[in-house]
Amino acid sequence: MTHIKTAVFPVAGLGSRFLPITKAVPKEMLPLIDRPLISYAVEEAKSAGIEQLIFVSSPDKPMIEQYFQTNVKLENHLFQNRKTSKLRQVQLATLPDPFYKFVYQTSPRGLGHAVWTAREYLRDEPFAVILVDDFIHAKKPCLAQMIERHAFTGGNMVATMDVGPQEISAYGCLDYTEIEGNCLKASGMVEKPTPETAPSTQAVIGRYILQPSVLDELAKTKPGAGGEIQLTDAIAADCKNQQLWGLQFEGQRYDCGSKIGYLDAIMALALERADTAVAFRKVLQRQTQQNQNSRVRAAIAFGVY
Ligand code: G1P
Repeated sequence: MTHIKTAVFPVAGLGSRFLPITKAVPKEMLPLIDRPLISYAVEEAKSAGIEQLIFVSSPDKPMIEQYFQTNVKLENHLFQNRKTSKLRQVQLATLPDPFYKFVYQTSPRGLGHAVWTAREYLRDEPFAVILVDDFIHAKKPCLAQMIERHAFTGGNMVATMDVGPQEISAYGCLDYTEIEGNCLKASGMVEKPTPETAPSTQAVIGRYILQPSVLDELAKTKPGAGGEIQLTDAIAADCKNQQLWGLQFEGQRYDCGSKIGYLDAIMALALERADTAVAFRKVLQRQTQQNQNSRVRAAIAFGVY
């Protein structure tokens, strides 16, 4: 069984769907209640046994690095004021130095290029890639599910879910030939196909376990969909060297790269967390009631009733 030690987090993107906030706050730092999106992805990697985190960031996003560094002034303040549990939370958010590295993608040239930028740390072993936008809430973390399965399949592996024909053109799409339980044996992948040309409705969600041979393919990959160097194209090209698998993971995925997906994730967490669930349920009930009342008022004003 190959132990997957390294995970790459491509976090250099502009976050244009969340402008203007992303003018100053990286989208990976947007909060799901009181923790930034990126910290959920980091926790997922840690709980899957990952030992080295490589962030492919941009020099314009120093806030991400700051979040993982020790804040001596804040820690001293919390310590002196005996705020032990707050201090613990702050310390847990800090990553030990040897555990992570930052590399920089100076221009946004696509996901494939971001992974390629991390190549010096990817040695000769399979590695994971985690897209922070895809928040996956699951009993067993998605990456752990994949690593467990990958121990038997080897090759390249992507997380997938069925999104139906209307949505598939927003994703990488798996071209699969066989189904073995929740594992799909694939012969290729296509980035953002039209519904008419899509080989399936299985969308690639942002978790990958990749062989170093994908890096050799990335070195040769020309810009593809959207004019960007696509990771999908390199994985597809690597099918001549490696078997490709799609794992239909268990869990709920939230597309936190979209406003609705982001709100959905916050609500799901707020309804679940012990410190927010009861009060937030009341807030939701009030909001729903107010919303219904104003719809009825509007309908009356327009003479619908
Ligand atoms: C990226 C990948 C795509 C994948 C998607 C999952 O696309 O290129 O293959 O399906 O993430 O979220 P993006 O959302 O960056 O356009």
